[in-house]
Amino acid sequence: MKAGISSISIYIPPLYLSHDDLADARAIPRDKFRIGLGHVNMAIVPPWDDTVTMAANAAEMAIETAGIDKDEIGLLIVSTETGVDQSKPVASFVQGLLGIGHRTRVYEIKHACYGGTVAIMNAINWVKSQHHRGKKALVITSDIAKYGLNTLGEPTQGAGAVAFIISDETEFIHFLPDLNAFYSKDVYDFWRPNGYLTPIVDGKYSIDCYLEALDFCTKDLQDNLIRETGKELLDFVDYFMYHLPFPRMAYKAHCRLLATLNPTLAEDAINRMYEESFTEKMKPALMGSEEVGNIYTGSVYMCLMSLMEEKSESLIGKNIGIFSYGSGCGAEFLIAHIGRGMKQQAKHLNFNKQLKRRKKITMEEYTELYSEQGASKTIKREDVISTDDEFSRYFFTGVNEHKRQYAKNRN
Ligand code: HMG
Repeated sequence: MKAGISSISIYIPPLYLSHDDLADARAIPRDKFRIGLGHVNMAIVPPWDDTVTMAANAAEMAIETAGIDKDEIGLLIVSTETGVDQSKPVASFVQGLLGIGHRTRVYEIKHACYGGTVAIMNAINWVKSQHHRGKKALVITSDIAKYGLNTLGEPTQGAGAVAFIISDETEFIHFLPDLNAFYSKDVYDFWRPNGYLTPIVDGKYSIDCYLEALDFCTKDLQDNLIRETGKELLDFVDYFMYHLPFPRMAYKAHCRLLATLNPTLAEDAINRMYEESFTEKMKPALMGSEEVGNIYTGSVYMCLMSLMEEKSESLIGKNIGIFSYGSGCGAEFLIAHIGRGMKQQAKHLNFNKQLKRRKKITMEEYTELYSEQGASKTIKREDVISTDDEFSRYFFTGVNEHKRQYAKNRN
């Protein structure tokens, strides 16, 4: 057994908006969102959820799935770009809510959507080091992707959290870190200055920055793979997943990867290669992005959850190529190997189950929630969350003397 991820869990807020409703309200053809961006629905955060509650909900499920005690956690990292405080880390709130012990290193990490991958890699290095003293790491990605009303970014919103238990011995997910390809560059493609509630985006340029990073990482990953294993990327990797700000980005990214690996092929030949590999190698990973939207730090790992829901135990022995991108920008292309632990994990994914329990909201409710910055007179927790809901466990109750207050569901 080797170091890696021993459990993974996702939390998705219980409200959603249909992209058809959004398109109608904005007088935009539905096909632009459905086909042009690839979206179907997007997650909307109710007044009682925030980055902290989503993180805590996902984390508690990951701990239960791993079958460990909270005392076994010695490192807790939350990666987010939508934290609730400029100083106090989301990780500290989570520590308090979950009752994780004091002999724990706890911090928040940020590098736009790439931060989650940085946190996972830091945790893996920690469990491999002498410092972990037999303890495990809890890594959480949690974000609310929010753009302005009536902006081009509006259809690419979303929210959710993904949590991981990382341990020095696991049979579930191993990485091949000697192969990892990195890229970083100082760019202004998407940023949120202090005091801004929503980001400023140079949309088309952000896609160019993403594809430039992918191009660079693809070449490096291919070189590393040939050097270490003698195999080529397209032969070694069974499924590809990319950071997905919107589902159609998978098409742009995979075509770019194919073109980088086959520089002499014309565009129509690349498109044919894409069509041949799409259904088997990519489609199963898109469900989360289509239904939930962008969840920033957790986005590419929501692809992994989608793939697991679809393929379950048949993933055992497969290699997954994961391209993680964060604006600003930073990127890493890595390969994960799925082991026998998938059999046990498959029983606890609960992704489809969470999507099925969601309540659809109207454009009026969406606009009210947005304008009131999360407060709502019409959407009440008791009308949405049933008393036996197993996912929305922690909830935000308000601010008292500048201190955010949380509570736990009695069930
Ligand atoms: P836009 O101006 O709406 O784009 O912005 P568009 O007009 O080019 O339309 C999009 C696609 O819809 C195009 O397809 C159109 O042809 C198609 P493409 O040419 O790209 O293949 N289209 C239609 N298709 C069918 N029927 C129709 C129709 N009309 C048009 N009737 C953009 C799109 C994504 C730029 C915008 O939504 C945006 O700015 N989003 C936010 C930024 C973003 O997502 N950037 C992505 C890369 S950066 C990143 O991923 C990092 C990020 O996650 C943040 C972080 O790291 O923290 C964002």
